[in-house]
Amino acid sequence: MNSKVKYDVIVIGELNVDLILNQIGQFPEIGKEIIANSMNLTLGSSSAIFASNLSTLGTSVAFIGKIGQDGFASVVLNSLNSKGVDTSNIIQSETLNTGATIVLNYDQDRAMVTYPGAMEDLRLEDIDFDFLTSCRHLHFSSIFLQPSIRKSLPFMFSKAKLLGLTTSLDPQWDPAEKWDVNLSELLPTLDIFMPNKAEFLLLTATNSLEEGIAKIKNIAPNLILIIKDGVNGAYAWKAGQLIHQPAFLNENVVDCIGAGDSFNAGLINAFIKGDSIEKCLESGAITGAVSTTRAGGTGAFKSLDDVRILSVEVFNVIF
Ligand SMILES: Nc1ncnc2c1ncn2[C@@H]1O[C@H](COP(=O)(O)OP(=O)(O)O)[C@@H](O)[C@H]1O
Ligand SMILES: [Mg+2]
Repeated sequence: MNSKVKYDVIVIGELNVDLILNQIGQFPEIGKEIIANSMNLTLGSSSAIFASNLSTLGTSVAFIGKIGQDGFASVVLNSLNSKGVDTSNIIQSETLNTGATIVLNYDQDRAMVTYPGAMEDLRLEDIDFDFLTSCRHLHFSSIFLQPSIRKSLPFMFSKAKLLGLTTSLDPQWDPAEKWDVNLSELLPTLDIFMPNKAEFLLLTATNSLEEGIAKIKNIAPNLILIIKDGVNGAYAWKAGQLIHQPAFLNENVVDCIGAGDSFNAGLINAFIKGDSIEKCLESGAITGAVSTTRAGGTGAFKSLDDVRILSVEVFNVIF
């Protein structure tokens, strides 16, 4: 192992806050004002939820991302710091604002508006590869929200691998729905690729898991492919074998915000420990399920003890 190792995982990705408005009497109309009876300002973004929950599980985590110097920036930094994530490599732009998502919850539905802000400006030059040499694993999330670094990802992952890190990527949804990614270039630079099923089918332009896997197996024969499929659980494809992990079904879902990111946290936490692929999948399924028992992406991850208690009490499984 590298003698400089300080962090198990370096997360590179998007950062924003979520301003969540609940209990609104009716959906907003142009030109009118309505009242929300509850409001919550929390850490948003897939990458930050992943980093925060991974740290709670006991893995040491550092973060590289871009925010502004505004009040929302303090919310992001305080939230990550309070979960033990190292934020010293987060860049605070003097000119750009921190990204924010305004969420309007109305009954079972919601409307969201996102201002990407500084997250769109993260670029290859912002990454301190010397710092990466003090980490064991690199995880990146949300390629379509970060246009300034997107085309540099194969270079970034290749360089990280040369420095001795293992690599993982969760592509997340493409808001433009173009799904324009050169998989032949990107996938060979990854150890683990972890989209959800809808994203995987759109990225591979196929209609089934089997077809999608057939398309990528020659491009990246050594890849571990993880496919999340909501209440149907998740799949792992490794060395020509497809394994299915059923979900630990939650009958009383509070919300599914961050279920995929929490799944990723459980899986990478196990991967870092050197667990088998079966164990990694099961860990992900537990933490994905645990995430649905509390509001928001980090609500169920207050401490490792809380995660363990929820696993046993709600799902009758030991984490
Ligand atoms: N209702 C649920 N009950 C239990 N586990 C769930 C539930 N919804 C999601 N999960 C777990 O979380 C994982 C990720 O959820 P999914 O919705 O597939 O990802 P994403 O949030 O990326 O779309 C699933 O593979 C599953 O293990
Ligand atoms: Mg996801």
